[in-house]
Amino acid sequence: MRPKLVVGNWKMNGSRANNATLLAGIVEGLGQGKAQAAVCVPAPYLQQCADTLAGSELAWGAQDVSIHASGAYTGEVAASMLSDFGCRYVIVGHSERRAYHGETDQQVAQKAVAALNAGLTPIVCVGETLDQREAGQTNVVVNKQLSAVLELLDGAAVQRIVVAYEPVWAIGTGKTATPAMAQEVHAELRSQLRARSLDAGEKVAILYGGSMKPDNAAELMAQADIDGGLIGGAALKAADFLAIINAA
Ligand code: PGA
Repeated sequence: MRPKLVVGNWKMNGSRANNATLLAGIVEGLGQGKAQAAVCVPAPYLQQCADTLAGSELAWGAQDVSIHASGAYTGEVAASMLSDFGCRYVIVGHSERRAYHGETDQQVAQKAVAALNAGLTPIVCVGETLDQREAGQTNVVVNKQLSAVLELLDGAAVQRIVVAYEPVWAIGTGKTATPAMAQEVHAELRSQLRARSLDAGEKVAILYGGSMKPDNAAELMAQADIDGGLIGGAALKAADFLAIINAA
């Protein structure tokens, strides 16, 4: 069985003082043998994570990465720099980056490669908009987003990614996909992975994201192909985040 993984996506939230309280609360409440957990924080707070989380059960990561290794790319952060700060994960292709920064499927794929080359686990986000769902295009959209990544990786590398299915219409809106709706897309993504590499189909964690909360987490994560969650709003309160980890 695949281990469950619950990842907090803090987005552009936090301050040194608030983070200290939040991180301490999460670490204190983490039990033994439960789901794996991580927080993906704004880049300036990676040092704070490295300082406070080293040796704890809570892993950390970033929310974006450059496709370039180093050089004249003002404002960009290289994957090797994230590794330098002890990151295990980096989110790539979140719908907010696709929508507000024009990230293409190809750039997202290159980011996944950059992350893997630096020893990081990319959390590759895919998901359809409401218009696309209503037009019956959900599977076409997510298959295309994932296939751009799969095309750049060999079978062994595919096994090292995490996929997050995040329907855009469910992010930060309080509207959640029903467990059955989410499971249907997760099963589709899993068969796409399996077609690429049987081992990847079995091993790759597929997280659900989009208004996952303590009261809907258990039912979502009980679905056969839902291996955890990518949590936005509810990751900013230790009690809620812990409740979701415990529901996994
Ligand atoms: P949400 O965000 O849980 O606030 O809907 C999820 C995400 O964007 O990763």
